[in-house]
Amino acid sequence: MFIPFPPFAGGDYSFCGAAPFPAAAPCYMSIIPPLSFGAIMKFPALFQPLQVGPYKLAHRVAMAPLTRMRAERESFAPRPLNAEYYGQRATTGGLIVAEASPVLSHGRGNPGTPGIYSDAQVEGWRNVVDAVHAKGGIIFLQLWHVGRVSHSSFHDGELPVAPSAIPIKAEGMKAMTADAKIADYETPRALETEEVYGVVEAFRQAAKNALAAGFDGVEIHGANGYLLEQFLQSRSNQRTDQYGGSVENRTRLLLEVTQAAIDVWGANRVGVRLSPYGVANDTGEPDPMPLYTYVVKALDKLGLAYLHVIEPRSSGAGRAEVNWQNVPSAMVLFRPLYRGVLVAAGGFTGETANAAITDGHTDIIAFGRIFISNPDLPRRLQHGYPITPYNRATFYGGEDKGYTDYPVYDELAPA
Ligand code: FNR
Repeated sequence: MFIPFPPFAGGDYSFCGAAPFPAAAPCYMSIIPPLSFGAIMKFPALFQPLQVGPYKLAHRVAMAPLTRMRAERESFAPRPLNAEYYGQRATTGGLIVAEASPVLSHGRGNPGTPGIYSDAQVEGWRNVVDAVHAKGGIIFLQLWHVGRVSHSSFHDGELPVAPSAIPIKAEGMKAMTADAKIADYETPRALETEEVYGVVEAFRQAAKNALAAGFDGVEIHGANGYLLEQFLQSRSNQRTDQYGGSVENRTRLLLEVTQAAIDVWGANRVGVRLSPYGVANDTGEPDPMPLYTYVVKALDKLGLAYLHVIEPRSSGAGRAEVNWQNVPSAMVLFRPLYRGVLVAAGGFTGETANAAITDGHTDIIAFGRIFISNPDLPRRLQHGYPITPYNRATFYGGEDKGYTDYPVYDELAPA
């Protein structure tokens, strides 16, 4: 079963969510300039080595975390198909951030997403990690709690949880139920203060589970309108305890969760992902700069493996083709505030990725959509080979179609 995501609400964007494969090209072309196609070019800045924590990357073409909803249906454990997919995308000294994985059952919000809270899931992930390591790759796992971006059907009828009882209201934005139907978002239940401590412990246990599965590190999902970003932003957080109100209080949960992961892994094997100026899942801090200046400066002190920022132009790319215009650049804004390794993602081409590194705006580029459709993306960029367009209709759910059946360059029919 393929699962079309509900339309992304509001704004000026081009939507081609249900397009079949050939029709996806125009949307793709609106993001990747035609110059990338077929031209012989190399991007040397992308192929300089880089030290990330204890790991020596051979290149800076990382795979962004990408939810694909193809875990085992009952246990939410990764299965051999998932190991094949990640193994296809592994390269020697290449960084993969594996898809967002709920740290506990109540953190779920999509069918078929792999978890990291049961023994079966740890076992399943171990096969994925082994497939990546067999090719010399480095793999982090993204730790996730969706908060209010969920539905009671995932929780035996109990409401999703959030910092405050404020639902997603954006017009046209719909929840997905546990059986992949579309529903209205419900008003979530505000977490009690003691339960927030429990969230920190769930992330800590998940970090331990990721270690047991053999991962090389973990990335905390503080982006895209999920629980940790719901706490960060004043529109979704109107709490009056130590987790709400001031910027310092709203940042507290993210920092406590990050510290829990550091306790397990050491700081240099923990990354954090943020989406300042993002609008995904009905987010949007009225004045993002004071908040994210505080957050980035606080993270800068920790000595993390990396900070990962999503460019606002691509905010919401998981739900629809977006290419927001006249928005700030996260890497340009926050590079000066962060001394460690910076990863930037969102709408990059080989050309713009190479330039971003050359210009000193970031150290690594994480590619999302074109890593889905180009399992050998680093090699294609290195040699200037053409990029295969992706098929959005097969992003979520299903089996091998649109997942493990994208060809590597050498398998493409000659033009
Ligand atoms: C995403 N994105 C995403 N982000 C994240 O932090 N965790 C996740 O699990 C996912 N899942 C996901 C699935 C799919 C199908 C898409 C298209 C996107 C966002 C992704 O990591 C990336 O930031 C965006 O896709 C923008 O980068 P590209 O695609 O322009 O290179």
